[in-house]
Amino acid sequence: MVTVRNYDIPALRQLDMAHHLPAQSSYGLQVELGGSRIITHAKGSTVFDGDGHAILDAMAGLWCVNVGYGRPELVEVAARQMEELPFYNTFFRTATVPPIELAARIAGLLGGDLQHVFFNNSGSESNDTVFRLVRTYWSMKGEPDRTVFISRHNAYHGSTVASASLGGMDYMHVQGGLPIPGIEHVMQPYAFADGFGEDPEVFATRAAQAIEDRILAVGPEKVAAFIGEPVQGAGGVIIPPPGYWQKVEAICRKYGILLVSDEVICGFGRLGQWFGFQHYGVTPDIVSMAKGLSSGYLPISATGVSRQIVDVLRASGEDFVHGFTYLGHPVSAAVALRNIQIIDEEHLVRRTREDTGPYLAQALAERLADHPLVGETRSLGLIGAVEIVAEKGTNRRHGAGGQAGPIVRDACIARGLMVRAIRDSLVMSPPLVITHAEIDQIVDTIAAALDASADRLAAL
Ligand SMILES: Cc1ncc(COP(=O)(O)O)c(C=O)c1O
Repeated sequence: MVTVRNYDIPALRQLDMAHHLPAQSSYGLQVELGGSRIITHAKGSTVFDGDGHAILDAMAGLWCVNVGYGRPELVEVAARQMEELPFYNTFFRTATVPPIELAARIAGLLGGDLQHVFFNNSGSESNDTVFRLVRTYWSMKGEPDRTVFISRHNAYHGSTVASASLGGMDYMHVQGGLPIPGIEHVMQPYAFADGFGEDPEVFATRAAQAIEDRILAVGPEKVAAFIGEPVQGAGGVIIPPPGYWQKVEAICRKYGILLVSDEVICGFGRLGQWFGFQHYGVTPDIVSMAKGLSSGYLPISATGVSRQIVDVLRASGEDFVHGFTYLGHPVSAAVALRNIQIIDEEHLVRRTREDTGPYLAQALAERLADHPLVGETRSLGLIGAVEIVAEKGTNRRHGAGGQAGPIVRDACIARGLMVRAIRDSLVMSPPLVITHAEIDQIVDTIAAALDASADRLAAL
């Protein structure tokens, strides 16, 4: 590991409070709690904070460090590319070498007709690209009235104006007067909350039917696309019931609506396939990718686009007037290319599907599912959730709901485990290099944190 510099952490905390506004945070709490948690270095699946704590990172940063921390290969490739060409843009029919090679590599992984790639810098930007691309496509195709997007409540598609509007998080819509017009939100396939005790097939049909009903209510000739995450990550690791995605695909095809798969979390091995749509056996027209594309080592995202869409853009003779200065950045693209090579050479996708994913599912089922505070454990590949309930056998929450998750999460962090609380569930999405012993540590720590929190939860 690199030699870690000797930081003056108390002084950094003061500077943090004085000048730094962290993302998705309460700035009152930042000051009240004396500044942010400062992470100084990391190796494998473990991060270290400035106070000397080792924390097993069951969130892979923010669902992204798929190959784990401390990869010298990625450092080397970045340094080499910086020396050769640190930047040039890809505007106005220009390119540099790494994004061309990366686009071809991604096209090979996507397969089928998904043979074109538009780069961006973040998942949010990719979904903004989707927003403009889809409407531009329909307009160029001679159906300019097809402008409406259908998305789901509690979906997360990013934090820019368009991507947060596509998302279905009500609390994000409150700030900034969102959503923008032309976006319809329908029910999510969250069985534990919205279909508790319901037959999974009946629930899958009901959740898919909500999409068709909305298409008919809006008017099929006005609907441009449906966008969804294969597994809703930030919404609480919502794994749809079997058959749901096939039904959604069939509905999109029936009305000629584009299907957009937001693979920002699910892509690059998380579900045990390169992409989530491959796990569910459906074929989208557009795919958003980010996070695991570079394992978070540098910002980069990509929007995969089908041949049929590109044919229309080509035939139009018009420019697609969209792009960001740093999209297709040569250093980020070179790192992403090497990152994909690591995932491939180390068989991390197969390992997730056949080894660590099933091991996590078994550990959750055997060591947590029976816990008196646990309503359900669920996982697919290396993404999982633990639902905390007040009464075993029900989905009843402690108090008004939403407070139990953060309490147990903090108890996990205090015991050296980073998980995230989404309302009253704990979610995890560890690096794809996680070991069996580390998975044991995740599950045992959650069990200990639940035990230690029992009295506080009962008092809610
Ligand atoms: C499914 C999904 N889409 C889009 C985004 C937005 O990505 P970014 O934060 O890189 O803008 C996220 C981020 O968590 C996500 O989970």
